[in-house]
Amino acid sequence: MRILTGIQPSGQLHIGNYFGAIKPAVDLQTRGDGFYFIADYHSMTTLTDAARRRQNTLDVALDWLACGLDPAKSVIWRQSDVPEVCELMWLVGTLTPMGLLERAHSYKDKTAKGISPNFGLFAYPVLMAADILLYDANIVPVGRDQKQHVEMTRDIAIKFNHTYGDTFVIPEPEIRDESAVVPGLDGQKMSKSYDNTLPIFGEEKALRKKIMGILMDSRTPAEPKPDADKNLAVQLLKLVAPADLAADYENRLRAGGFGYGDLKKALFEHYWTFFAPYRARRAELGANLDHVNAILKEGADRARATASQVIARAKKASGLR
Ligand code: ADP
Ligand code: TRP
Repeated sequence: MRILTGIQPSGQLHIGNYFGAIKPAVDLQTRGDGFYFIADYHSMTTLTDAARRRQNTLDVALDWLACGLDPAKSVIWRQSDVPEVCELMWLVGTLTPMGLLERAHSYKDKTAKGISPNFGLFAYPVLMAADILLYDANIVPVGRDQKQHVEMTRDIAIKFNHTYGDTFVIPEPEIRDESAVVPGLDGQKMSKSYDNTLPIFGEEKALRKKIMGILMDSRTPAEPKPDADKNLAVQLLKLVAPADLAADYENRLRAGGFGYGDLKKALFEHYWTFFAPYRARRAELGANLDHVNAILKEGADRARATASQVIARAKKASGLR
């Protein structure tokens, strides 16, 4: 069974990304044949700074490898290293109804915000369909916001198979649990768009300051807090501290006599310890970029071995060859 997903190179990753997307993907590696790529072509629909794209792409590769994507178990590559995906985009794009693309949230949301859309943004779901179909993927794990794109991929693949004969594997989306939404430092969903994140990797002093700066209510340390389970620091502690310790902090807060300052200190310590092995691994990888580039190159070679077969199949079926 082939499991495939793409990750946009969109800057510094935060612990919401870790618990919501990275960890589930890392865990999935044991279930099947994992195909993971950095969607640098997709990033062109919104980002037009070449140096930033180059840097973000490398950063995402470092972050994911540091957090446990294992090139010995999975194929990891940069989308644009297998440009056949653009060729397949044309093949499937010619069977994609305009109406389907006009209904895509990715396009509707951006135009609703007043962003003047380019062809690439409109064609985004077609490129995503090509990403999935080019590698014969069976399962596509994504967040709920991407479900519609995977459903479009299914429609497009079914239409192609119907028009030109059985060519593509029909993929299934696998939607991650919504309860896994990590709150940000202001209590809203953690997101880089809200400037409320706790980055996975970053400088110790700045991160300590961010955590110690989390706003709490004005109750004194002595007061019991019957609503301790709703406390933001407690919720974050449950992610990064061992379960019994997190429960202990929650109980102490509930009982009274335990202040927010100590709670936030505990949160910082556990967060820092939790990510310590990843931080060490990231530093090692960062000092050895040739090795990281070699991993991406090998991943691209392995990805292409599948891609070239599928594109040949699709061209033959559609009368191009
Ligand atoms: P952001 O909201 O910071 O821009 P993205 O939209 O780039 O993050 O999301 C990348 C991945 O991380 C997606 O799979 C998304 O579902 C997941 N993710 C982002 N923020 C959170 C969060 N606060 N909790 C859980 N998962 C998240
Ligand atoms: N659109 C996805 C996102 O923004 C990233 C992506 C690109 C993707 N191609 C994909 C995800 C193919 C799964 C499969 O998160």
